[in-house]
This record gives sequence, structure tokens and C-alpha cells, in this order.
Amino acid sequence: MSDISSLRKFVSPEIIFGEGARKTVANYARTFGARRVLVVSDPGVARAGWVRDVEQSLEEQGIDYVTFTDVSPNPRAEEVMKGAHFYREHDCNVIVAVGGGSPMDTAKGIGIISANGGEILSYEGVDTIHAPIPPLIFIPTTAGTSADVSQFAIISDQQEKVKISIVSKAVVPDVALIDPETTMTMDPFLTACTGVDAMVHAIEAFVSTGAGPLTDMHALDAIRLISTNLRPLVADPGNLALREQVMLGSMKAGLAFSNAILGAVHAMSHSLGGWLDLPHGLCNAMLLEHVIAYNYPNAADRFKVIAETMGLDTRGLSQTEIKARLMSAVIELKRDVGLSQKLAENGVSVSDIPVLSEKAIKDPCILTNPRKSCQRDVEVVYEEAL
Ligand SMILES: [Fe+2]
Repeated sequence: MSDISSLRKFVSPEIIFGEGARKTVANYARTFGARRVLVVSDPGVARAGWVRDVEQSLEEQGIDYVTFTDVSPNPRAEEVMKGAHFYREHDCNVIVAVGGGSPMDTAKGIGIISANGGEILSYEGVDTIHAPIPPLIFIPTTAGTSADVSQFAIISDQQEKVKISIVSKAVVPDVALIDPETTMTMDPFLTACTGVDAMVHAIEAFVSTGAGPLTDMHALDAIRLISTNLRPLVADPGNLALREQVMLGSMKAGLAFSNAILGAVHAMSHSLGGWLDLPHGLCNAMLLEHVIAYNYPNAADRFKVIAETMGLDTRGLSQTEIKARLMSAVIELKRDVGLSQKLAENGVSVSDIPVLSEKAIKDPCILTNPRKSCQRDVEVVYEEAL
């Protein structure tokens, strides 16, 4: 009998990529038979003008809509439930999300509840959604989270101070309108956080136990695009050509990780972000080289390819030397984009580590990490990142 664990699948939304992609939103809403669209966003994205921009596109084609922007960074279960109530109250039948990971994950949650009922936190885990959710049209305004192409929704449980992961083909959007112009309003810090998040997606997807030929080329392309273009972009945030390259990298990283899943950086960063409400990309940045060091012996050949894709010359070097060079390259990239912080500077203390680790080893992302990890292993990695 063949081993089904070696089979691989690949899911992706319909993707429109390029300047002006967002302007096709009304056409897609119409194609899905929109009666009334729920536009989901957050106050920051509204201030940047992207909500009005989308509303105008809908108005021009006479499509009715209501807008929900009650979404915080690290979106909360209560916000999803409130949005789902708003969706029902206004008799919507299509959801458009415009923004970063927070509005997009909230929109996924609203879709889940509007079709399946119940409480959002009860859908934690893999393949827990049974009824198909309303059409989702996503317009990302950051180049990093890739919620616009992924089968992940990450929601904060404020009571337990933990982030839950919902992983299901049901939350892959129907259409992703990926328009680099929308990322022009990100400041250098957010550009760096989201860019490093995308880099982590690509690295974790490439060394994941779920990696394979359907995802590898996207992961490596993403590593090349982000490692080449993120530094110059943070130094020159108004450069649209660089915005486009980083967004393309982020999209490819998203396609890779949505299908190959992630690893210990994300498991540990979800735990950290739920505990202290810190930016997701910053959490990943603080953990990345420490998880690479931990995982290295179990995926040395793959890490060598990552090092080479980042432009490092590995000829004649031993495994230990390549590992050291890769870690330095990651540390330098983080430093050059302004993300050199350590956990302690962000309020993490030694006494938090056991509880953070306990939560991290329960996160579904830990399952595809190339090195099996127990709670003590995770504690040691947190300690190193302190
Ligand atoms: Fe991420």
C-alpha cells in the first residue's frame, strides 16, 4: 500500500496581482451575486483611505454595502462575534476585507459564524468547519500576513490570553486582489514587521514536514524576493517597484505556508502574541534565528538551500559554518530593517516562559516543525531569545 502521508495538495484563491487590482472588487462582488456586501476593515486602514477607496468602487457599480471597522490588532473573538451579528442584521451575502491580517482574519471568522453558527473559539484546529462560508474577496494592505491566500485564521482569546489557529480550506478566500499600491501607506516599522513575517513564512514552509514540490518553488522565490528587496524598501518606503517585489514575495510565501503549514517560530509567536498583544511580525523576528539553530540538525540540507537562496556562498563550508552564516545573515537582515529587539525588552520575563511554552506546544503549527519538540525544548528556545 502506498504511504498517503507523502501525498500533497495545493489550494489557492483566484489571484489578481498588480497595480490597480483592488479596483476590480465590484466586478467580483457582482459575479458572486452580491445583494449587500459587508466591508471589513480597521480604523487605521480607514484613516489611510483604503476603505473609502473600496466603498467608492462598489458605489460606482451600484452595489449596496455596509462597513464594519471594529477590529483591533490581534483580532479578538468578541469582535468576530460582533461582526457576524452585524452581517446578519444587515442581510449581507458577500464579504470584502480590506487591510492587514487583523481585518482579514476577522472577516474569515465572520464568514465561519454566519454559515455555521456557534462561537468562533469552538472552531479551533484543523478542518472543523462543515458548512461553506459566504464568498470572500480580500484586498491586503500589508505585504506579509498572506491571510488573503491562506487557509489560516488566527483569533485572540482574551480570557485565556492565547491565540487560536483555525486551519481549513473553507477559509481560503475566493479572490485575492493583491495591489502593491495599497502597501504605500505602511510606515517603515510595519513594512519591516510584515516583511520579516513573510520571510519567516517562506523559511518555515521550506523546512516544514509538509513541504513538497508544490510549495518549494514558491518558498524559495519568496526568500529570494524578500531577502533582496526588504532592506532597500525599508530605507525607501515610497518606492512602488520595491513594494511590488516584496508583495510578490509575500504572496509566494503565503502560497507556500498555506499548503506546507508552518513550524515552531509561528507556534511560539502565536503564544507570545496572545500573551502580550505584541505585533506578530516582531514576535517572529525575535524568535527566528533561535528556532533556526534548534531545527538546523533536522533539516541541514534544506537550510543550506535557504542560505544559498539568500545569496550566501556555502562552497567548502561545513554544516556548522553554514548554520553560523545563515544565523548571522538573519540577524543582519533584522538589524538593517530595525527589528533587533529581544523578548525581555518587550516585557517577557523568565517566569512567563513555562506558560508561553505550554501554549506553544498546543499550537497546530508545531506539528509540522522539522524537529519534534517537547515543552522543555520550547522553553530553552524562549530562554535563548530573552
Ligand atoms: Fe505569520
